[in-house]
This record gives sequence, C-alpha cells and structure tokens, in this order.
Amino acid sequence: MKGLILAGGKGTRLRPLTYTSAKQLVPIANKPVLFYAMETLATAGVRDIGVITGDTHAEIVAALGDGSRWDTRVTYIPQEAPLGLAHAVLTAEPFIQDSPFVMFLGDNLVKDGIGDFVGEYQREKPTSLILLSPVKHPEEFGNAEISEGRIVKLREKPKNPPTNLALVGVYLFDQTIFRAARSLKPSARGELEITEAIQKLIEDGENVRSHVITGWWKDTGKLEDVLEANQMMLENLEPALLGSISEDSAIAGKVRVEAGAQVISSTIRGPAVIGAGARLENAYVGPFTAIGERVTITHSEVEYSIVLDGASIVDLGARMENSLIGRDASVYKCNTRPRAVNLMIGDHSRVGIL
Ligand code: TTP
Repeated sequence: MKGLILAGGKGTRLRPLTYTSAKQLVPIANKPVLFYAMETLATAGVRDIGVITGDTHAEIVAALGDGSRWDTRVTYIPQEAPLGLAHAVLTAEPFIQDSPFVMFLGDNLVKDGIGDFVGEYQREKPTSLILLSPVKHPEEFGNAEISEGRIVKLREKPKNPPTNLALVGVYLFDQTIFRAARSLKPSARGELEITEAIQKLIEDGENVRSHVITGWWKDTGKLEDVLEANQMMLENLEPALLGSISEDSAIAGKVRVEAGAQVISSTIRGPAVIGAGARLENAYVGPFTAIGERVTITHSEVEYSIVLDGASIVDLGARMENSLIGRDASVYKCNTRPRAVNLMIGDHSRVGIL
C-alpha cells in the first residue's frame, strides 16, 4: 500500500497567506497541517509516500525532507499546474505503478486516523474505498448516495443532497482509477475532477465502497476552518512551561510555553501554545490561541487566533479574536495626528476594524 499526499493546488481561499507560503504548511496548534497528514499515514502503516507539489515545491521539500522523521520514505512528484485532483492522480501514476494507494488531501485533518479505513480495504479489497462523514450542510461538499455500503452516485455540492454523507478527502484506489481519470474532460472550472473519475468507476460497474467515519475531521482550505482546526488540536496539547514566566504572570488551563519564550506580567488562559523565542509583555493570550516562534505581544489581548512566526502585536486598543496573522506581520496602535488608521496590507487581505 502506497500513499499519495496532495500538497500542490492554488490555495485561493487562503490568500494572501498562499502568495508566499503553502497552505499545507499553515500551522495548526503550531504544527504544519501537512505533518498531521504524514503522521496519519505513517500510523496506518503507509510508509512509501508520494507528495504532489506545485508552486511551493521547494518549501514543501524543506519541511518534509526525506520523510525519515515519520519513519517513511517520501518521493516528490511535481505537478505541471494545479489542474485538478484527478490530474494529480495521473501525474503520480509512474510512482504508484501497480500498488493500491491511499490518497490524502494535504490540507485535511482526520483526528482519529485512518487505521480502520485502510484495514477495511485490505480485508475486502474493493476497487475503491471512499471515506465519508455525516455533515450538517451536505450541500457544501461532494455528496455520496450509498446502498448497503456501496456508493451508487456521487454529486459535487448538490442543491438538494440525497444524503448527509460528505466526501472527506481521503480515498483508496487501485489501478482502475487511472483508466477512469484518463477518460475525463476538464470540468467547468478547468479541472479534472476526482468525483467524476470515481463516478466513472461506478458507471463501469466497479465495486466502489464507502467507509463512514464518526470522528472529527476538517478541510483547512479557508480561514474559519483553519481556526476551528486550531481549536480542536489545541485541546490535545501537552502542557509544559519550558520558557521563562515572571512571578506576576498568571497561567491557567492547558498551556504550553516553549523553551526560550518569555512571559512577563501577562495572563495566558489555555488551551494555548506560545512558540520558542516569543515575548509576551503586559499581554493577555486567551483560549484556543497558537502563538508562533519569535512573536511579540505587548499591551494587547489575543484570543481564538493564530499568530505566525515573527509577527508583532503592540498596544492594541481592543481585543483581537478569530484572526490569522501572517509571518513577520505587525499590528499596532497608531498614535499619529490626525487620528487615522494606517494600513499596508497585501492583496486579498481582510481587516476588520472597530
Ligand atoms: P483544494 O483545496 O480543493 O484546491 P486548491 O488548493 O486549489 O484551493 P482553492 O480552492 O482555495 O483555490 O485542493 C485540495 C488539496 O489538493 C490541497 O492540499 C491542494 C491539493 N491540490 C493539488 O495538489 N493539485 C491540484 O491540482 C489541486 C486542485 C489541488
């Protein structure tokens, strides 16, 4: 069994972060989302992993290396352009050869792992096994209609979904997927769609089965979902106070302060993580917040947020929440006269001001 992680794509919904960085490397509880994917595959016993890359190839290679830190072997597979998930599958054919493979979207998180899913495939050996999850808003996802565990129809974001079962972003395939993918034409958005390839397998009478998970999973393709994933993963945080914490600071709940971080006259309410070399002074860091390495927070309050490495938040007059602050970005109170907001923000940024 081989693995295929998709870490290319356009990442338009996470602009401006994705102008300079891969969305699969956005940290969730201070760990890149892609690392969770590597752990999930390795824990399920998948050791030979292909990683599809796009414009951010060099950054992905620098982050994963040869895969040995997860006891895996990584082969990089550059995709000429983000032409769809089924195009990524075709690009990986020389790597996959005749092995069955588990395909995992590199921006997805499956909290309880995929051990049962892989186990079921190995026991029953269907043509394909698709991971599904019941969701509240099935109209927002690829939707599956099933009969006795067999998938009978897939639809992409249907207006009137026949079931509440969404495609999670984890798939098990054998070689038949290559034939199906080769028969596709680009969709309206110009991509080769994996749902269409699977639908083709169904129409060809192949045994396409479903595996429903009940545990938590998330596609971290947009801001709200990144923040929600951060909340979920912070719940599992291993608390430790390794940095320096002044006596007049207060720490409550599950908090991890990494070595080299300084907490001065500040309050931290967990779950929260403070990265190495960060400096908090007269600050409040509230629950569900991940502060990256070398971040400065002074005279400011931050909650339900992610602050990436090297950013600074200084003298905010209000509490910041539900925010994602990019690397080396700075947010500060403006003391110029006349009183006005001063901004220098990248394309596709979002700023909510009081
Ligand atoms: P998506 O999130 O569906 O697509 P995207 O990355 O283009 O993002 P957006 O819709 O915001 O523009 O992709 C799911 C995963 O698959 C993600 O990790 C990126 C990866 N991917 C590829 O590797 N190659 C591709 O051609 C596409 C479309 C996605």
